Amino acid sequence: MKPLYDFSSLAVDRTVAPRDGMVSPDLPEQYFDLGRRALELIHFSAELCDKPHYPNILDLPCGHGRVLRWLRAHYGYANITACDLDRDGVDFCGKQFGAKPVYSEVDLHRLPFANQFDLIWVGSLVTHLRKDRWLATLDCLVKWTKECGVIVLTTQGRTVSSLLARGRRNVAENIDKPALLEEYARTGFAYQRYFESNAEEDYGLALTSPEWVMRTLQRYPDVILRAYLEEAWGMQDVIILYKKAGHFEPLLGVPEMNAVDKTAGAGKPGGLLGKLLGR
Ligand SMILES: C[S@@+](CC[C@H](N)C(=O)[O-])C[C@H]1O[C@@H](n2cnc3c(N)ncnc32)[C@H](O)[C@@H]1O
Repeated sequence: MKPLYDFSSLAVDRTVAPRDGMVSPDLPEQYFDLGRRALELIHFSAELCDKPHYPNILDLPCGHGRVLRWLRAHYGYANITACDLDRDGVDFCGKQFGAKPVYSEVDLHRLPFANQFDLIWVGSLVTHLRKDRWLATLDCLVKWTKECGVIVLTTQGRTVSSLLARGRRNVAENIDKPALLEEYARTGFAYQRYFESNAEEDYGLALTSPEWVMRTLQRYPDVILRAYLEEAWGMQDVIILYKKAGHFEPLLGVPEMNAVDKTAGAGKPGGLLGKLLGR
């Protein structure tokens, strides 16, 4: 894909950690291409959301800095927090790129963040989570973002599901693909645990259709969907969200809405729509 911006002159630290699992031995340059591409998308988010600066940035999950190294090079002035379950990755990002290291938790609600970040980059996290953790992650991201802050997160939608359906090898060989695709076709959300993972860790592969994501975003009247870009980061889709308190009225119902009393529907007497219509 053609670059969105020319970052070729950026002085990026190309030191790769010995335990970085994101480097493909056959395609070593792809590691840097995807990092640079993430920065392009983040810079695009800044333009879309009219943000000249991102002074406080969270990279979750940072891994071993595939993207963080580009953030450090471009946003030299920023406080960057590097957060992951992989402590070796967090330590590396802290030492090598001057990020603030924070060890993560499986339950993200346990992390000590408040509404403090101007930008949260979430590259390939919810793509591995079962539905309750996917939804909890979105709740946390919105909570941790400042007013007028931006979230850029990646998902796996029509591209990854189509590759799996066509039998393309090496997209994911360690899951029950037929079960995944059946659930995806039926509901728009699908998750299968990796064969090598266990019930406690529960790490796997999640698919979300654009329609399912849109419907889920209806839970957040304070969040504006600035962009949904299919297949913008490798095989993954990219979503750009902008937080603006009270921007929308919560008129639309959401089937997955686990946080809200379903009996208080917007259209019911006493509900929001009822109030707007004088009922
Ligand atoms: C596919 S890797 C992506 C890493 C990085 N974003 C990149 O692009 O190189 C997924 C990462 O998610 C991390 N992870 C999984 N669950 C997490 C959680 N609850 N909190 C933080 N990191 C998590 C894993 O440790 C792993 O480093």
